[in-house]
Amino acid sequence: MSTTTASFLLLLLLSWWSLVITASPLQVGYPSSISLTSRSSNSRKVPPLGFYDPRDHGGNWLTVLNNTFPAGLGEPINVILLGTSDSAVLIDQQVDGGLRNYFLSIGFAGECLGQHSGSDQAANLGDGRGYQNETAVMRWNYGDPALGTCKETVLGGNHFRYWAQTGSEANSGAVFMAASYELPEKFSHDIVVNGYNLGRDWLIGNATAQSTLIPTTSLTNATTYSGQTSYGGYVYQSDVQYLSGYLVNGSDGINHYLSVGVNGTNAVDGLVALLNVKLLTTPSGSPKPSSSCVAFFSFLGG
Ligand SMILES: *[C@@H]1O[C@H](CO)[C@@H](O)[C@H](O)[C@H]1NC(C)=O
Ligand SMILES: *[C@@H]1O[C@H](CO)[C@@H](O)[C@H](O)[C@H]1NC(C)=O
Ligand SMILES: *[C@@H]1O[C@H](CO)[C@@H](O)[C@H](O)[C@H]1NC(C)=O
Ligand SMILES: *[C@@H]1O[C@H](CO)[C@@H](O)[C@H](O)[C@H]1NC(C)=O
Ligand SMILES: *[C@@H]1O[C@H](CO)[C@@H](O)[C@H](O)[C@H]1NC(C)=O
Ligand SMILES: *[C@@H]1O[C@H](CO)[C@@H](O)[C@H](O)[C@H]1NC(C)=O
Repeated sequence: MSTTTASFLLLLLLSWWSLVITASPLQVGYPSSISLTSRSSNSRKVPPLGFYDPRDHGGNWLTVLNNTFPAGLGEPINVILLGTSDSAVLIDQQVDGGLRNYFLSIGFAGECLGQHSGSDQAANLGDGRGYQNETAVMRWNYGDPALGTCKETVLGGNHFRYWAQTGSEANSGAVFMAASYELPEKFSHDIVVNGYNLGRDWLIGNATAQSTLIPTTSLTNATTYSGQTSYGGYVYQSDVQYLSGYLVNGSDGINHYLSVGVNGTNAVDGLVALLNVKLLTTPSGSPKPSSSCVAFFSFLGG
């Protein structure tokens, strides 16, 4: 093969590659640091409740942060996207109506320009994998999917970290979320008064398209909400039920407990919001999402 032919072929390859790159869909706020490892063995088994209690296999409803004072404080896992949700929604991707697209439909996007700010937190979901760092942090995007989370980083607002329960000991596929409402950056991102309960309820208020705020102080075990959201032509139905008896109702071990629970109130009310999400409609022309477990293989976290 002559050098001319070789360089021609190389040129052809390069232009093909640049076409491939330009043709790939825009991934709003998708952090580049996450690798989508494939999951082959280890099939998913969803219990009736839609998740496994992390404590059944040595896990915990609180996350772990380093460098807290006093040491060893954590934040409450207060929202669960259940394993009984449509499997398309349980894949950590924006395309095909996946988890990231669902998050966009409820007003949350990846971090500002893909840059990770804030410290990592680890959670043990009792799925046999021990403590795992968060998959990512999602921030309220102020109505701007591309740059709104930059605003949140500076001004503060609602945000959550999430982890998937996918280890072999408890493979429900449920997505566990730790939501809280934080103060602006200049206050070192402390949590606002009652900020764990409020972060949870403002997330649920948006996920179920409520026209008024969810009354945090009058929620009880078995309170329910439902509603629809959409993004990019995908329409989701979210059915929520609050559940007590799992997460601690108190302030013990909770990060920022002094500022979050004031005047003798508990920092955390002990309610976990269970979110069951169905994908109702897809944009015309796009492939119908798979309802089998096949699509689940691309979920990360193994
Ligand atoms: C978890 O995050 C911490 C702090 O960012 C980092 O030092 C550690 O390597 C991470 N652990 C894993 C398993 O990625
Ligand atoms: C916490 O610190 C330990 C020990 O330095 C480290 O192994 C771990 O990855 C850290 N975890 C996080 C979430 O930063
Ligand atoms: C939706 O979220 C925003 C930002 O956190 C909040 O200001 C608003 O009150 C929420 N809406 C509902 C109905 O909870
Ligand atoms: C909350 O309600 C569920 C049923 O939805 C029940 O199984 C559970 O025991 C209740 N929790 C408490 C603490 O009573
Ligand atoms: C949490 O505990 C407080 C008392 O400390 C109680 O008033 C409240 O009803 C409890 N909440 C739930 C959801 O059990
Ligand atoms: C706590 O109580 C004090 C005195 O009654 C009151 O001034 C303050 O506003 C209360 N704080 C909150 C967050 O409710």
